[in-house]
Amino acid sequence: MINRIKYLRISLLNSCNLNCFYCRPPQQENDTYVTKNYDNFQNSIKLLHTLGVEKIRFTGGEPTLYKQLPELIQFVKKTNPDIHTAMTSNAILLKKKAKTFADAGLDSVNISIDTLDENRFCSVTGRNKYKDMIDGIKESIKYIPKVKLNTVLIRGTNDDEAHDLIQFANKLKVDIRFIEFMPTKLNSENSDQYISGDEIKASLPYDFKPIKNDPSTAARYETSSDLDINVGFINPVSHSFCAMCNRIRLTSDGRLYGCLFSGESFNLFDALAKGYDVATNEVHQLVANKQYKGCSRKTGDSAFFPSFVNMGG
Ligand code: 5AD
Repeated sequence: MINRIKYLRISLLNSCNLNCFYCRPPQQENDTYVTKNYDNFQNSIKLLHTLGVEKIRFTGGEPTLYKQLPELIQFVKKTNPDIHTAMTSNAILLKKKAKTFADAGLDSVNISIDTLDENRFCSVTGRNKYKDMIDGIKESIKYIPKVKLNTVLIRGTNDDEAHDLIQFANKLKVDIRFIEFMPTKLNSENSDQYISGDEIKASLPYDFKPIKNDPSTAARYETSSDLDINVGFINPVSHSFCAMCNRIRLTSDGRLYGCLFSGESFNLFDALAKGYDVATNEVHQLVANKQYKGCSRKTGDSAFFPSFVNMGG
């Protein structure tokens, strides 16, 4: 058992059908799109479940572009139907695929939505796909048991939309979370656009009251008498939630990381090729070195990884 580690995030590929400037800067547009790792993902899941993982989130890039994702979800559910399967998606392909993923056994999806303005959507994402996103959200609500919305609020870009986005989510009866913009190596020049979750909360016209949170989740949820939904604040920059962290991250090229902001990793696919025992030892070592003290991420610092498109948010 790897003590408290229960939650695995897998970045299946670093390709995306959007080019959000804060996630996938222009330098990253040449992807290494690989599908050949299917067996490696299966073996990694098998091992990490044996060691205690109970929840798996598929991220990217954009995970819906990974052709074998329905099979992989089915594989997880066959391994153990109690493993929670989740995905983080931009919803562009979900109008077509939400039912397929739900039928395969997907339990929940977090959908990124940064704006309700079609022109702004184009300027943030570099793509004219606003309507696909909206259709994808509606189709997901029909088929996938749990849907949440995620917004990265960026000063001067979309920080005037928090209220409208809450109203949009409230109409659809799905929770929404605001995520603080985190700096990475390739977007550090945008770091003056960071805005804290507390500043956003204070600007909103709701009588927010905190609800009882699962301590290991990154979001702090609030309710309001004016809303049928919960609003979550994910504040990794202003308030570290490392102390209760229960997650590890696998990238599409096989590297297993204990933390988004630690460079420490090893190649799990290579270790598995040497045998389950070798891989198990390496996982134990990584987890033993994991820091729960809170990292010193501050606006303007740059992370060890180039951008989120590799690490899956
Ligand atoms: N800061 C915070 N969150 C980010 N994401 C991507 N880039 C960043 C960033 N710079 C997250 C968002 C998005 C998901 C795909 O990745 O949550 O919804």
